Amino acid sequence: MAGMVEVKNLTKYYGNFLAIEDVSFEVKRGEIVGFLGPNGAGKTTTMRIITGFLPPTYGTAAVAGYDLVDKSRQARSHIGYLPETVPLYLDMTVEGYLAFMGAIRGMKPNRIKTRIGEVIDACRLGDYRRTHIGKLSKGFRQRVGIAQAVLHEPDVLVLDEPTIGIDPIQVVETRQLIKDLSGSHTVILSTHILPEVSMLCNRVLIINEGLIVAEDTPKELGNKLQGVERLEVEIQGPRTEALEALQKIRGVIEVTCSTNGDSDRNVYKIQARRGLDLRPTVSRTVISNGWSLLNLQLVSMSLEEIFLKLTTDEEINV
Ligand SMILES: Nc1ncnc2c1ncn2[C@@H]1O[C@H](COP(=O)(O)OP(=O)(O)O)[C@@H](O)[C@H]1O
Ligand SMILES: [Mg+2]
Repeated sequence: MAGMVEVKNLTKYYGNFLAIEDVSFEVKRGEIVGFLGPNGAGKTTTMRIITGFLPPTYGTAAVAGYDLVDKSRQARSHIGYLPETVPLYLDMTVEGYLAFMGAIRGMKPNRIKTRIGEVIDACRLGDYRRTHIGKLSKGFRQRVGIAQAVLHEPDVLVLDEPTIGIDPIQVVETRQLIKDLSGSHTVILSTHILPEVSMLCNRVLIINEGLIVAEDTPKELGNKLQGVERLEVEIQGPRTEALEALQKIRGVIEVTCSTNGDSDRNVYKIQARRGLDLRPTVSRTVISNGWSLLNLQLVSMSLEEIFLKLTTDEEINV
């Protein structure tokens, strides 16, 4: 089965500012893919391009086989989009707004009527059908936003930070709603909350400063992040013996030396078990062998830095 969403080499400049660079990915039918990255990473920009709201500077995006630029109408009929800020009309009632959204999408009146009933049930808005949107809490407005996104029965749902700014109880309910909807849709959702992707997604793309820097299952990413500590050490001494001595240190998983040849000044990269600070042992090993320690530093993984920037003040025990 070809990808439901196919994104190739997407690049977007705002004036001179490069917001996303060479972003490529594919989402298969039925997948729930999380777009995880700190603020300013380029999540919204990417989503606005794949929903046809913003043209790319370079690259292409297609949904259900339709290019978002050349076949925008067809592509968009397959997409339901919950933007970062939903353009709700506060003086409309919930069902009035949904009827309006159905009409501007060209849905037939009968179908609009049926679908309003269905989405109001699915989004548990039954008690608020005739309530003015302006009177609803942020969490309920978000449900109305989701209801309009699924109204025309799109194959693909694009949800931009669906739980941002709503209270904790509503967050739980909104996530449950997304879970329910994911049974019958292909979903791309963005978040800067790490536990949220573990809860909802079967694949995660990590985006930072406009680039996709990692892609994996939430579980594997977790393992990778908890796995290792990295050190870089520069030693003046015999290469083979130094490699051997470093490898013997307890807690060391792997040592690599990229420099080669006969030089006796080399940089070694050491991977160690998480939670071990090997700097004291490494320096003692070097000195006791009579070699010179020229440099020694912890190397933070780029992925780890990104995760540190992500909001994790939410309940982690999920
Ligand atoms: N309309 C715009 N004009 C100029 N810069 C923008 C515009 N929209 C977003 N940006 C910049 O592009 C980068 C990516 O933004 P965005 O896609 O909104 O990231 P995210 O959704 O991950 O927070 C940010 O540095 C942001 O300031
Ligand atoms: Mg955003």
